[in-house]
Amino acid sequence: MSATAKKTVPMPDDIRAMKGGTPIVSLTAYTTPMARMMDAHCDFVLVGDSVGMVLHGMTSTLGVTMDMMILHARAVARGLSRAMMVVDMPFGSYEESPAQAFRNAALMMRETGAGAVKLEGGQHMAETIAFLVARGVPVMAHVGLTPQSINTLGGYKVQGRDDQAEALMADARAVDAAGAFAVVLEKVPAALADRVTDEVSIPTIGIGASAGCDGQVLVVDDMLGLFTAFKPKFVKRYATLGEDGEAAIAAYAAEVRARSFPGEEHTFGADAPKKAPGK
Ligand code: KIV
Repeated sequence: MSATAKKTVPMPDDIRAMKGGTPIVSLTAYTTPMARMMDAHCDFVLVGDSVGMVLHGMTSTLGVTMDMMILHARAVARGLSRAMMVVDMPFGSYEESPAQAFRNAALMMRETGAGAVKLEGGQHMAETIAFLVARGVPVMAHVGLTPQSINTLGGYKVQGRDDQAEALMADARAVDAAGAFAVVLEKVPAALADRVTDEVSIPTIGIGASAGCDGQVLVVDDMLGLFTAFKPKFVKRYATLGEDGEAAIAAYAAEVRARSFPGEEHTFGADAPKKAPGK
């Protein structure tokens, strides 16, 4: 099923059914205009907690709150009519207990219209995932590099290398068995991502993983070249909007200082414009 051909918003089960077929396309979005740009091209749009770093200048995702996620998810929802919206549960909103996770996930869905939530963690989150799914909350899991755990992972390192591979496999199997409808694999060696993709029953969505995953996701500001603080190896820049934007701002500043902007075409005369006959 191609994103451009479909007419109705896909449900989590439709995304699950895409396992092994045409790769699932996804990007993050945080605002209405970005959501509008990607609506016709993506199967699902992720309101990622990367919003904290990308739009709010935070140095990690740990400071992102439920209120921030709800605000941005509402904005994204206004820009979508074809793609499903998945919203990240922020750090501290779901880890304490399945009951805490349900309370906040229900709030997120009620306030934003999200079709599903995403949360980070493998085996240790399996009980919570099962609890949510049994109560009507579709869950996308996220294993491998889980940025909310950078302080225990020791930074943004590749996950699942050497003797960590079996633990990562166990994480992926656990979220599959718990009822997640898809799983994000972040910063995982390609061969291991391919093995996970072969062995789990749900679609794998790669970011820094493998072209063999069932789908891909990127942070939109990364792929558009808008976020330039750093560029992870797994990011391909499809545009240079950061550079182009800065050049445009420099041109504007120069024209204002030279009084060449605004030009005549941007200013108003004292008389009302004459209407052409018949108009
Ligand atoms: O927050 C985010 O943008 C994410 C993606 C990187 C998968 O979780």
